[in-house]
Amino acid sequence: MDIELVNVTKVYHLGKQEVKALRSISSTIRAGNFMSIMGPSGSGKTTLLNMIGALDRPTSGYVRVGGKDISEFSDRSRSKLRLSSFGFIFQGFYLLQNLTAMENVMVPMREAGLSRWDAMKRGKELLSDVGLRNRFGHLPSQLSGGEQQRVSIARSMANDPAVILADEPTGELDSETSQNIINIMRGLNRNGGKTIIVVTHDNEIAKRASIRLRLKDGRISN
Ligand SMILES: Nc1ncnc2c1ncn2[C@@H]1O[C@H](COP(=O)(O)OP(=O)(O)OP(=O)(O)O)[C@@H](O)[C@H]1O
Ligand SMILES: [Mg+2]
Repeated sequence: MDIELVNVTKVYHLGKQEVKALRSISSTIRAGNFMSIMGPSGSGKTTLLNMIGALDRPTSGYVRVGGKDISEFSDRSRSKLRLSSFGFIFQGFYLLQNLTAMENVMVPMREAGLSRWDAMKRGKELLSDVGLRNRFGHLPSQLSGGEQQRVSIARSMANDPAVILADEPTGELDSETSQNIINIMRGLNRNGGKTIIVVTHDNEIAKRASIRLRLKDGRISN
């Protein structure tokens, strides 16, 4: 499933103020690519991920996923697409605080219609894959930052998406834990064939990427 960005522009309106967050971004990300997005704070990185992941619509231009223009999809079709094709790892984790590690990982599977039993079975595998075999029943507040991030990686994999979108997945972690997270993501790319699109300030991650996109003031600057 290739992803094509064609002249993607995003303008936010705040009262009378206009913020041009993205200015005519064009790029092609082929299935199985590992793309890094770098750039200063406020340069449009998260906005771009939101466009690719069908969380928001461009002001002009379009995003094609598997040859289809997703800007034209209904809200319902977009949420279906998100659930089936994209795994999200957000800036700052976004785990549900009152749910255990296992329950967090089960959420997208239950939303996709999997039985409780099957969701739990797969949840066990996913959490074990990221080294959290002994943490199924822990709440996020009872986990370290790196462990929470690994839960969020396991959750992003729940419905076996073709594309993983990660927004600074190692932002708040020490270098050893970051290395561990990078290795998990590299494995998903190399062995699992996943397309990975990762926003990062970390050169170690960017070095692994097959495509490096640099944003500055809403434009591609490389
Ligand atoms: N909902 C919104 N309404 C208005 N302006 C917004 C909104 N979201 C983002 N912006 C503005 O758009 C620009 C790009 O924001 P974005 O979140 O994409 O930056 P970023 O590159 O992810 O930054 P960071 O590295 O700090 O996360 C910023 O100037 C921001 O203030
Ligand atoms: Mg951001």
